[in-house]
Amino acid sequence: KKVFKFAMLAAMVLALAVSAVGCGGSQPKEQAKEPAKDAAKPKLVVGSDTTFAPFEFTDPKTGKYIGFDVELIQAIADEAGYELDFQSMAFDGLIAALQANQINAAISAMTITPERAKVVDFSEPYYKSGLIVAVQTKNNDIKGFEDLKGKKIAVQSGTTGAMQAEKATDKDKITYFTNTDQALLELKNGGADAVINDYPVSAYFIQQGNNDVKLVGEILSAEEYGIAVPKGQTETLEKINAALKKLKENGKYAEIYKKWFGEEPK
Ligand code: ARG
Repeated sequence: KKVFKFAMLAAMVLALAVSAVGCGGSQPKEQAKEPAKDAAKPKLVVGSDTTFAPFEFTDPKTGKYIGFDVELIQAIADEAGYELDFQSMAFDGLIAALQANQINAAISAMTITPERAKVVDFSEPYYKSGLIVAVQTKNNDIKGFEDLKGKKIAVQSGTTGAMQAEKATDKDKITYFTNTDQALLELKNGGADAVINDYPVSAYFIQQGNNDVKLVGEILSAEEYGIAVPKGQTETLEKINAALKKLKENGKYAEIYKKWFGEEPK
């Protein structure tokens, strides 16, 4: 009888213990399900210098940021399931902001260069570009990069155009501006003999009615733009690349490209 009683007790204790473990084991699983169901989308904080039409600039009518890059990154964020937080900042501060993890990505018509690729990671290229010389329309002695020695050149600081200017003329002849617009205005006002800048941006500037400026010579150096992310953020980079690939396949990339450049992607 005693043995039987003991067995009953032992069975009860065991049953209690099992149910307690069972409870503990199943509860967290259920809790985890709930928040995941209505979790907010993860944020993607993207930095950009929004003075670079037609890639990123302010719509004079609405005050909103518009342009090829702006629409592309919105489409990428939608595709990858991110909530986009688009922030305007100086171009020459973007790399530092990425390194400090203040932003998750930068889209800013940024050329993929070996120097930059040492300190940030780049997505697959999304646009083919190149540099061009702009001068006043009345200027007849500068016909391309080869005529820039000793000339005053205005550039946007931190750009490939600025790097090229340093090869083309003496450093004390270069004026560095925070914005490309300021460099182009300096040229219009006669404060500089030339501007070295990305071809599509200087061409767009002239198209907007700045007939006192013209482009001369050949487009220099094949450049490709990439979306930059902090080094080692592989998940972000993979999601951006996968979304970009999808948009190229489903025609959305071509649609945005045609809207801003009036032609099929190269
Ligand atoms: N493509 C050039 C570079 O990477 C100029 C980019 C300037 N972009 C801008 N949004 N201001 O240096």
